[in-house]
Amino acid sequence: MERRTVGAAALGVGAIGLGCMPMSWGYTSSQRDGESSVRAVHAALDHGTTLLDTADMYGPYTNELLLGRVLRERRADVFVATKGGLLAGEQHIVANGRPGYVRRACDASLRRLQTDRIDLYQLHRPDPEVPVEETWGAMAELVAAGKVRALGLCAMGARADRRADRRTDASIHATTLRQLERVQQVFPVSSVQAELSVWSREALETLLPWCETRGVGFLAAMPLGNGFLTGTLTPGSGFEPDDVRARHPRFTAEMMAANQPIVACLRRIAARHGDVTPAQVALAWLLAQGRHVVPVPGTKKAAWAVENARAAQLLLTVGDLAEIGALPEAQGSWD
Ligand SMILES: NC(=O)c1ccc[n+]([C@@H]2O[C@H](COP(=O)([O-])OP(=O)(O)OC[C@H]3O[C@@H](n4cnc5c(N)ncnc54)[C@H](OP(=O)(O)O)[C@@H]3O)[C@@H](O)[C@H]2O)c1
Repeated sequence: MERRTVGAAALGVGAIGLGCMPMSWGYTSSQRDGESSVRAVHAALDHGTTLLDTADMYGPYTNELLLGRVLRERRADVFVATKGGLLAGEQHIVANGRPGYVRRACDASLRRLQTDRIDLYQLHRPDPEVPVEETWGAMAELVAAGKVRALGLCAMGARADRRADRRTDASIHATTLRQLERVQQVFPVSSVQAELSVWSREALETLLPWCETRGVGFLAAMPLGNGFLTGTLTPGSGFEPDDVRARHPRFTAEMMAANQPIVACLRRIAARHGDVTPAQVALAWLLAQGRHVVPVPGTKKAAWAVENARAAQLLLTVGDLAEIGALPEAQGSWD
């Protein structure tokens, strides 16, 4: 698989990563299965993926424990990217950016991951109660202590917050840009992680250029539009209550039907390339957005992990990219 560089510390990774969240969090819990998830991680690594994206709050904790089983056996094959500073509370998600907490959270992640060093430690969400420089300073100390190789920042508003505050991706990204400028004064940023996909393209305007001009890597979260862009979901199929898509405005039967032209476009392009899937076209589109972009498609299935890793071999034409560029904006928003 093609290699790409993540950020200031010039860390090399396979161009397509693996998002490990669906194995333990966010999607229908009744479909989770530790053994097949471990097989999916091995399958991705066997096909050139190196970056595994996890977080202490996925589970919480169980996702890191699961990856620890793989890392114990093949640490040299893995670039482990985890996140701290956010926890799932009883009612909602809570940020904690206090330095003492960040230090404890990192030590706990190291234990669960069964490793002595995290390749990329990402701040999951800045804590509004703590100046972001303070949190970042504590994270920089983790690098100095040899516990972490590089630091990243996530730019993702909690969905509940978005509804409550009427925050849009554009306003979240504007806040993130200010935070990035501030933390850069403390310690170099190696990566930014934010949603970017064929149907969520806001980061192209702001975060992507910021990263490109500063040599910062960009981890594209939700690159398959939570599964929609794969063309395997049908309008009206419904989701169990603990699946994020049960409350996601783009996953109502009406919005899924309204957004079918996006899937149809990916299908058309896939057909032109032969033995290729819409998911692979969606990932190849991301790879074409810049050499600093690394998509982290999430899956808990080995076959899909392999399919996604193979997307690194697909080169879209200028015509393909123009066709996707001309798609109308996706319908269904949080505000
Ligand atoms: N920083 C943050 O705050 C944040 C927020 C969200 C996500 N992320 C990261 O981004 C990663 C990706 O996001 P995501 O997992 O939510 O969304 P995604 O990658 O856009 O889509 C995941 C969904 O697509 C399905 N899928 C994957 N590959 C497929 C294929 N080839 N064909 C058909 N279906 C396929 C998965 O099914 P199965 O689960 O059944 O395999 C899952 O339901 C996460 O795993 C996480 O690491 C970070």
